[in-house]
Order: sequence, then C-alpha cells, then structure tokens
Amino acid sequence: MNMVLLGPPGAGKGTQAARLVENFGIPQISTGEMLRAAVRESTPMGLRAKAFMDSGALVTDEVVVGIVRERLQLEDCSNGFILDGFPRTLPQADSLTGVLVGLGRKLDVVVSLQVDTDSLVERLTGRRTCRDCSLGFHIRFDPPAVANVCNSCGGELVQREDDKEDTIRNRMEVYHMQTAPLEDYYRKNGLLKTVDGMASIDSVQGQILDILQAI
Ligand code: AP5
Ligand code: MG
Ligand code: ZN
Repeated sequence: MNMVLLGPPGAGKGTQAARLVENFGIPQISTGEMLRAAVRESTPMGLRAKAFMDSGALVTDEVVVGIVRERLQLEDCSNGFILDGFPRTLPQADSLTGVLVGLGRKLDVVVSLQVDTDSLVERLTGRRTCRDCSLGFHIRFDPPAVANVCNSCGGELVQREDDKEDTIRNRMEVYHMQTAPLEDYYRKNGLLKTVDGMASIDSVQGQILDILQAI
C-alpha cells in the first residue's frame, strides 16, 4: 500500500499516519519530521531549512525531493509507505511520480483530510509533541495520560516552534497557494479520496481504513 496523506497544517496527517503504522507495519515518511531532525542535529541541510520552517514557508523542492528519494529506497518501504506532508507542490508531485517509476512502483491512493480553518488553528495551538519520539498529542482532544509526558516513551511534551499564531497563519496561506492545487491534480488522475477530518480521531481512522479496504 503506497499512500499519500494530504491536508492542511493540523489536519491530522501525523496523528493518522502513526495509527496506520501500528495497523500495517509500513513506515510513515514525514518530510516535516525529517527536516526537524536535521535542524536538531544542525546538519547543513537542517541549517538551511530552519529559516524557511520557522517562517512557515516551504523548504525548496530540490531538498525535500532528495530526502524522499533516498528514503523510499530503503528496505522498510518495500511493502508500502505512508507519505505525510509530501508532496506539497505540483513539481514535488511530478517528481514523486518520476521517483516511483524509477523504482517500478506507483501510488495506490491519496487521502485528503478535510478540516475547517478555525478547527485547524485550535488543533495547532493545543498540540503538544514529544521531544524524543515526536508523537503528537492535544491538550483537549488527545491528552496524554500524565500531563506533559509522552504515553509512548515518557519524553517531555513541548510546543513545536512553528505552532505560534503568526507562523500558523503563514502556513495556512502557503497551503492554500501551493499545496491545495494537488487535490485537483490527484482527482484528475483518479487517486484522490476525501475524508471528513472534522470527525474524532478514531472515526477518521475508520474512514481511512474503509478506503484502504476498498482498493
Ligand atoms: P509538517 O511537519 O509537515 O507540518 P504541517 O503540514 O504544517 O502539518 P502538521 O504536522 O502541523 O499537522 P498534521 O496534519 O500532521 O496534524 P497532527 O496530526 O499533528 O511541515 C512543517 C514544515 O516543514 C513546513 O512548514 C515546511 O517548512 C517544511 N516542510 C515539510 N514538508 C515539506 C515539503 N514536502 N516541502 C517543503 N517544505 C516542507 O494534528 C494536529 C493536532 O490536532 C494534534 O494536537 C492532534 O492531537 C490533533 N488532532 C488530530 N486529529 C484530530 C481530530 N480528528 N480531532 C481533534 N483533534 C485532532
Ligand atoms: Mg504532522
Ligand atoms: Zn515520545
């Protein structure tokens, strides 16, 4: 199962991907997570990416396509993968097709999570992320068992650098300008499935599982 999770910032891509990983044992490929790891480790790529990410802008297509191309070649992707946050521009979508053709593979489905803007802001401002394993929580909608402690690894929960209100607004705008056109792109080639992302986390997961069962 080769799938893409599409949706605006805070739509639930990471939340749903983490549950799909548990269900199917295929990896989540989050370009946001990989870039944040590069920033933490102060790699040359991380140092270049940081300013873009802090302002809510996109990192260049060349950089993200490069990291995805490398990642898709790893052995753990042989039974499938869940792309989370990639592609995000039309050139990235074209590049992905090319990379997959080169590997003798193709996408099976693109699942788009539909959530209204007010809810997105509420989700992002209330999000807490594990410093150690990056698992996401929400202070109201998905609270950890112990306040500020990760259920999975015991790590400290922190707010993401780009979850500040100003940056959130920029990220939304960037999404509408650069990423939203991908819905049409994947609708035209028949891969797009939309899901009501306003529903509960469990219900959204159920909708995605129904889609996967049907294909
Ligand atoms: P990235 O990390 O991909 O961020 P994003 O797309 O803005 O998405 P988020 O991770 O904020 O949201 P999500 O959909 O994963 O929501 P989540 O599940 O956490 O990218 C960050 C930056 O990296 C970009 O701005 C860019 O600079 C760079 N970058 C990354 N990829 C790139 C690319 N391809 N090209 C160029 N640059 C790139 O959920 C949010 C919150 O809501 C959580 O608290 C969760 O608990 C809660 N929640 C989830 N589902 C529900 C629900 N159903 N009901 C109630 N609450 C819910
Ligand atoms: Mg995410
Ligand atoms: Zn953790």
